[in-house]
Amino acid sequence: MSEKLCHINDLTDPGAMGFDLELPVFIVKKDNQVFGYINKCPHAGVNLEWQDNDFLNIDKTFIQCSVHGAIFTIESGLCVHGPCNGIGLKSVGLLVDDNGDIHLNNK
Ligand code: FES
Repeated sequence: MSEKLCHINDLTDPGAMGFDLELPVFIVKKDNQVFGYINKCPHAGVNLEWQDNDFLNIDKTFIQCSVHGAIFTIESGLCVHGPCNGIGLKSVGLLVDDNGDIHLNNK
């Protein structure tokens, strides 16, 4: 089963967007690729963004947790700096269909 999240053009590149689903997730677009993660910091288990859709650092080169500043790679979700260094965000499967719609792939 897959759930439509948004269209790929709804995101800037790089850019991110959060979705308040049963399990909160967010997606990040970079170089026209999209990556999806559960919105839960491995450090303290809270949402990462400080305001709606703000998941990236100022340069938009990394995912950044707003609470204690942990830095995660966009491509793998691995924490490379901060209190949860070496621990990864939990990724979620995404599908981009021929129309450019991004779906959560729950299978
Ligand atoms: S809760 Fe994310 S770095 Fe502490």
